[in-house]
Amino acid sequence: NGYDENFAKVTLSNRPDLCEYQCNGAMAAAKTYKKKPIDIANGVVEQLKDSEVFEEVNAVMPGFINLKLDPAFLSGYMNGMKGAKKLGMDEVEKPETIVIDYGGANVAKPLHVGHLRSAVIGEALKRMGRFVGHKVIGDVHLGDWGLQMGLIIEELKDRKPELPYFDESFTGEYPEEAPFTISELEEIYPTASGKSKEDAAYKEAAMQATYELQHGRRGYQALLSHILNVSVTDLKRNYENLNVSFDLWKGESDAQPYIPDMVQKMKDDGFAYISDGALVVDVKEDTDTKEIPPCMILKSDGASLYNTTDLATIVWRMKDYHPDELIYVVDKRQELYFTQVFRCARKTGLVKPETGLKFLGFGTMNGKDGKPFKTREGGVMRLQYLLESVNEEMLKKITENQKAKENLEISEEEAKETAKMIALAAIKYGDLSNQASKDYIFDIDRFTSFEGNTGPYILYTIVRIKSILNKYHSMGKDESGAVIEAAHSASEKNLMLALSGFGAMMENAYEETAPHKICSYIYELANAFNSFYHETKIMSEENEQIQKSYIRLLELTKSVLETCIDLLGFKAPERM
Ligand code: ARG
Repeated sequence: NGYDENFAKVTLSNRPDLCEYQCNGAMAAAKTYKKKPIDIANGVVEQLKDSEVFEEVNAVMPGFINLKLDPAFLSGYMNGMKGAKKLGMDEVEKPETIVIDYGGANVAKPLHVGHLRSAVIGEALKRMGRFVGHKVIGDVHLGDWGLQMGLIIEELKDRKPELPYFDESFTGEYPEEAPFTISELEEIYPTASGKSKEDAAYKEAAMQATYELQHGRRGYQALLSHILNVSVTDLKRNYENLNVSFDLWKGESDAQPYIPDMVQKMKDDGFAYISDGALVVDVKEDTDTKEIPPCMILKSDGASLYNTTDLATIVWRMKDYHPDELIYVVDKRQELYFTQVFRCARKTGLVKPETGLKFLGFGTMNGKDGKPFKTREGGVMRLQYLLESVNEEMLKKITENQKAKENLEISEEEAKETAKMIALAAIKYGDLSNQASKDYIFDIDRFTSFEGNTGPYILYTIVRIKSILNKYHSMGKDESGAVIEAAHSASEKNLMLALSGFGAMMENAYEETAPHKICSYIYELANAFNSFYHETKIMSEENEQIQKSYIRLLELTKSVLETCIDLLGFKAPERM
């Protein structure tokens, strides 16, 4: 019709009782083209009348266009999706290299619930990025370079002064075996940290040890690698339990070799200057509405800081991986800090002007009282305890479920494995279904429920599909080669419509770094499936062709749901 295509935006209908899609562009176009909206709408409708895509196209006063898809077109699309790579989603045209910095575990300290969000959200983003076609590298960025290292060294020195690590004249090979186990290490750190709060001299000594470690004292470097080895082994196991994995296990300490040159260059280029003894770079901008303090590069004693390692980390990431974008999944309370770091990196030329630097700050996970999640005793909740308690809760639920069903005997071992899988889904979905930047309440009763917008409900839906498919095949039937027919009912069409939204949803969810959009999508898809399931006699359908078509549609539904939960980082059991 010669109208600008920007007016042709079609959205999902907000009156699903009247139509499936709608276009409201005629109202806006009316002004531009000086015509009545309804005339424009009628013109468009006239043109679409013979299209095979739509079953019904109507213009409604004052100028809405209501659209209903043709069932045969829709089922054709379903068949196409089934055969297509990535379920028909278009991969990005220009794949980018992206480094995602998430996890952020601190060496020698147990993971606590604060690290859960970073791991869960970062892992989902990494998988989403790969799915849409990018090259994504996940880096855990361990906290292995601060005072906590000095504290551990100091405490070890107090306990075992005879070890060669503390003898400055020692020039031989240090032992291969670490002088502590993981459980000792986990006890040493809190003890040392407690002492340093009471004893100023002790703290001073720990700071001195940190300084010497950072300035290359041999024995301390050797201790650091023991601490790292022992701790990383343990961390890997913990992350594995969360179905989270990293391509790189780099830490703050790995940035160390890049610091001297980086600092020198910042000085030479005239960006870094001494203020109150410390070396800083100004990062404020004229348009700032609030005060952005300078980025501190070195403390007055020359020691490097969290900033310094983050900046030097950017240096090696650029050098080794040439990323187009760096994404940080960190607690939103570090937002100002990252504003400083990003501005400093840009200003001093550590990144290219076109390199993306994105901070994805997440909110706090709160308890039911609305305060940061704590143990019953009020301490920081260790991640392991949290997982264990949700596992237990889940095991109780599925055991009860099995009893209620009576018929199905699941072995204790399978029950435990299944409980773990559902528990992980409960935790991850409970987290990811919220917009990342918002605080949320960790409600174990709600998260583990089999009903409502929860991980277990999604798994339950997948398991239901699996069991229908199993039953069908165990009857010796075979649907291969059959096609999905045009919908036989409204609920079936509705399920197809939900499935057809997958590609657009995925592109948008990644674009907006929003895993919660995948959650809302699969919740609606699961609802659409369950309505279809309740209204349709699948197993007793007598027309074999129709039954095959149903089975094919179920398989597609299962693929879409499984693809989505895989991107969210969890899996469905065989039965539950
Ligand atoms: N280790 C830090 C913490 O526990 C998080 C690290 C975040 N990443 C970064 N590049 N600074 O708070």
